[in-house]
Amino acid sequence: MGMESKYVWMNGELVEFEKATLHFLTPALHYGVGVFEGIRCYATARGPAVFRLKEHAERLVASAKVLGFRELPYTAEELADAIKLTVSANGFSECYVRPLIYLAEGGWNLTVDTGKASVGIAVWEWKNYLGEEALANGIRANIASFTRHHPNVMMTKAKITGNYANSVLAKTESVRLGFEEAIMLDPQGYVAECTGENLFIVRGEKIYTPPTATLLEGITRDSILTLAGDLGYSVTEQPLARDQLYIADEVFVCGTAAECIGLREIDFRTIGSGKTGPVTRAIQQAYHSAIRGQHARSAEWLDYVNTVVEMPVQVAASRSRFA
Ligand SMILES: Cc1ncc(COP(=O)(O)O)c(C=O)c1O
Repeated sequence: MGMESKYVWMNGELVEFEKATLHFLTPALHYGVGVFEGIRCYATARGPAVFRLKEHAERLVASAKVLGFRELPYTAEELADAIKLTVSANGFSECYVRPLIYLAEGGWNLTVDTGKASVGIAVWEWKNYLGEEALANGIRANIASFTRHHPNVMMTKAKITGNYANSVLAKTESVRLGFEEAIMLDPQGYVAECTGENLFIVRGEKIYTPPTATLLEGITRDSILTLAGDLGYSVTEQPLARDQLYIADEVFVCGTAAECIGLREIDFRTIGSGKTGPVTRAIQQAYHSAIRGQHARSAEWLDYVNTVVEMPVQVAASRSRFA
């Protein structure tokens, strides 16, 4: 996967890609004490546009608050501006955006209070997370043998780097077994989410999705709730059991990286017709036009990237305070 770019934004400055490095003794690397976002910027008729930038920047700051940071070097608005600047400095018309707030010093006593938050933003050209064929044909998934986090063990509303060891366990198992994605059950045994996507099922004309108590509050999930409503579907948030997946007419998953993808098979059981179903297709199409500036919802969801760049940039050192 080509992750190269010209510049990475680090603590207020754009630095050359090769120089965006950290020391081996970075505490975030040892204890998983970081929070991140996954964001996409799309090519539109009006140039590159970041999808739901405000919501992603706010979730990033919220994740830091959940992890216990009392102070950040930048506000959500400043981080959103820094993201646009990083996209435009790299000249990509379409890219994935990865901001990370991490403990770069202190924290060896297992608190966040003895360290200071650092921030980096990288962008790269990342097209199909689940592969070329996934969009048309859907993918095959299994139920992971690993349980999703209990909400009082790891904080499931936050994109904490350490949380993702759980996703890595499940996804590695799934891919080694020959599947493309893992569906994870919550500690009570209900369907939670995939390793990096939220999940929906379709039965008849009705759509269902698990409530968010134990899951990440996905921004794509939120967009799809709106788009499905616009299309006239009723969507109910309710606990779902594993066998409700097996007997669904359609199952689809959604996330920033994967976008909106049908599941054609789960645990060796064909789902519906075994192809991406009509409801999933309608929602997929609405989502694809929304992200590319061709939908009535695009105006509220797209943040166009200004192509004028000043280098190097120093973002004012105002602070987000939680305490
Ligand atoms: C565990 C998990 N669930 C769901 C999602 C989907 O969230 P979003 O739509 O905000 O990308 C992600 C990806 O960020 C994720 O990592």
